[in-house]
Amino acid sequence: MKGKVERLMAEMTPAEKIGQLNLLPAGEGLVTGAAQATTLAQRLDAGQVGAVFGTKSLASARAMQERALAGSRLKIPLFFGEDVIHGHRTIFPLPVALACSWDPSLVEETAAFAAAEAAAEGQHVVFSPMIDVSRDPRWGRVAESPGEDPLLASRIAAAAVRGYQGADIAGPGRVAACLKHFVAYGAPLSGRDYDNASLAWEDLLGIYLPPFAAGCAAGAACVMASFNAVNKVPMHAHAQLIEGWLRGTTGFDGLVLSDYTGVKELIAHGLGPAPVAVARALFAGIDMDMVGEDYLRELPALAKAGIDAADAGVALSAAAIRDLINRSCRRVLTFKDRLGLLDNPFRGLVAAGAVPTRQDGRKLARTAAARSVVLLKNDAVLPLSTGTRVALVGPFARDRRNMLGTWAVSGNSDDVVPLDQAVATLTGRAPKTAWGVNIVEEAWLEQRLNVHGVTVERDGRSEAELVDEALALARQADVIVAAVGEAKEHAGESSSCLSPSLPAPHHHLIAALKATGKPLVVVVFAGRPLALGAIAEAADALLYAWHGGIAGPEGVADILFGAAAPSGRLCVTLPAHPGEVPLSYAEETTGRPNPGHFQKFLTGWLDLPDSAMRYPFGFGLGYGEIRYGLPSLSIAQAAPGEPVVLTIGIENRGPREAIETVQLYASDPVARITRPSRFLIDFQQVTLRAGERREVSFRIDAGQFRYPVAPSLETAEWVRDPGLVRLHVGPNSRDTQSLELTWLA
Ligand code: GLC
Repeated sequence: MKGKVERLMAEMTPAEKIGQLNLLPAGEGLVTGAAQATTLAQRLDAGQVGAVFGTKSLASARAMQERALAGSRLKIPLFFGEDVIHGHRTIFPLPVALACSWDPSLVEETAAFAAAEAAAEGQHVVFSPMIDVSRDPRWGRVAESPGEDPLLASRIAAAAVRGYQGADIAGPGRVAACLKHFVAYGAPLSGRDYDNASLAWEDLLGIYLPPFAAGCAAGAACVMASFNAVNKVPMHAHAQLIEGWLRGTTGFDGLVLSDYTGVKELIAHGLGPAPVAVARALFAGIDMDMVGEDYLRELPALAKAGIDAADAGVALSAAAIRDLINRSCRRVLTFKDRLGLLDNPFRGLVAAGAVPTRQDGRKLARTAAARSVVLLKNDAVLPLSTGTRVALVGPFARDRRNMLGTWAVSGNSDDVVPLDQAVATLTGRAPKTAWGVNIVEEAWLEQRLNVHGVTVERDGRSEAELVDEALALARQADVIVAAVGEAKEHAGESSSCLSPSLPAPHHHLIAALKATGKPLVVVVFAGRPLALGAIAEAADALLYAWHGGIAGPEGVADILFGAAAPSGRLCVTLPAHPGEVPLSYAEETTGRPNPGHFQKFLTGWLDLPDSAMRYPFGFGLGYGEIRYGLPSLSIAQAAPGEPVVLTIGIENRGPREAIETVQLYASDPVARITRPSRFLIDFQQVTLRAGERREVSFRIDAGQFRYPVAPSLETAEWVRDPGLVRLHVGPNSRDTQSLELTWLA
């Protein structure tokens, strides 16, 4: 007997099939202020909507479903989606922050919590996880990314999919995950959002595609295409990567969504007028058209007449177009069937059973916030005792709204406990606070942000007055805690910046506070990796706290006063200078390595002093000392398939329990093409009691040394060479001990 999907396919008209490919925003809902039916309502009445995203309540989703069923001859239901990037109502740390926990189980736990909250409000799919590897701090969406390394990003991708989907995307409290943005959105040539990527196929295969492969292997039900082009082909028309690599090579069998008007934007990309754009997107495997309604407008005529646009290199018969419509419609219906909606159109749209409590969410958010903080420096200042007289200064001393970070569409900044209150609650003493300086100092930048509806909190006083107030406070204190950083609008979509560094007045404030001679703790709240410059030298202790979500400040307070020990490790390199972009620890080998005897300057840059501080990928300090013993290898020569084990003893010489992330890198000194100078091949996170010593073992196999050689995508092959490789093990990507291993042929 034919399944439900095939029965529907057999009965549906071409118009009804095209209607299923239309994905619309909930916008103002079904009626306007004047009680006129909205465009969405009209489309629902005409059976021209496959799914809706951005509904803000169970009731609104249910009303839309009822309207859709009434408008659909065959009673085909909608599915509902939402941008749940780092939490739904309970906002967790930014993804780039949570990636610094290096803890896939924590990523899975926060994703599962977010899924339960979203499912309780009638969401069936979340447009998450965002898994775009990024090595360019100028790109604002690094805030949503899992950082610069493909292995860490891959483990995070798989963990997030497990958390969102569980064993069944139709299960209670579960949603479908949507891997985005496919692909290489994080590698814009100019560093500016939406710019195109031009990459060696080896880099695409070795850096940007692996997290998508991992997410698909974990069972992700959905993928969203990215705005950019890759090697001259816009991703919304990239048949080679979508139908070819994603479905053909990786075996992905779920649904592919466009990004917001991504189909229409093929016109701006220069691929031709709307009919050509639609034909190319459908052919490439974009199953649903988000917002632009170009499929709805153009496909009826294309299905009748086909297209032959010689100037655009597109020729598809009417029959071919109809086959492509069938292909995508079948995928949409299959997706809805997997969500249980063909059996029950109101699945997930009725008040759910046990919804996670906001209290549970707050507890998890606080743990996640503390685990995301990275301690970069500590000259015997932290942790503070609760009796310390603290002067808490700077624009984030009492901040709520920026702590949510970018893409917190369903969050509420009233849920944030600001840093001054968090410290007061934890220590029983309210710190004296002063703004210090504003978050946005240049009036032109403030005006620009305000134009975009950003209410920039601005203290009306001058910078000098603000700094004087902070200094007066500092003089009465034992320790100064300066809370500086960037506004949540400084990072995120369409928020690229040329100079990823702290605003100048923050530098002035820190310099003035340093001059007091008091112990100075600097906490940086940011959405992207910033060049800290002189601040890194001025601080006696330095915490990178990102935008940590509703419990971000509480997580920082826990670290400041030792209620939690810092265990975060950077998932992105912090540049020594804002001009160091793109940047990663895994720089390719060259003929004149830096530093090297051909380089005139240690840093390689004339205008970057040798003392400049760059914080490497994987770096982070704790409260105490973890001592690494000498590593050993079970054998020094191995045939492929022969087990090799690297073992290293680590000891917690500190006064308290510590979480240590032991990182294993490799390098391949002789290969057929240039390779990264080193690359992460594994990591393990261990918790050690004070004084505890542990042997940590890594199983190494030849497969970890395979790399792509790709004259083209189609001719790509993953190869592995016999011969010498090096292994580098340690607490971060820089401070490692090395061993040699020879792979026999
Ligand atoms: C945006 C983003 C994407 C998001 C989508 C829907 O432009 O690129 O990440 O999921 O539109 O809001």
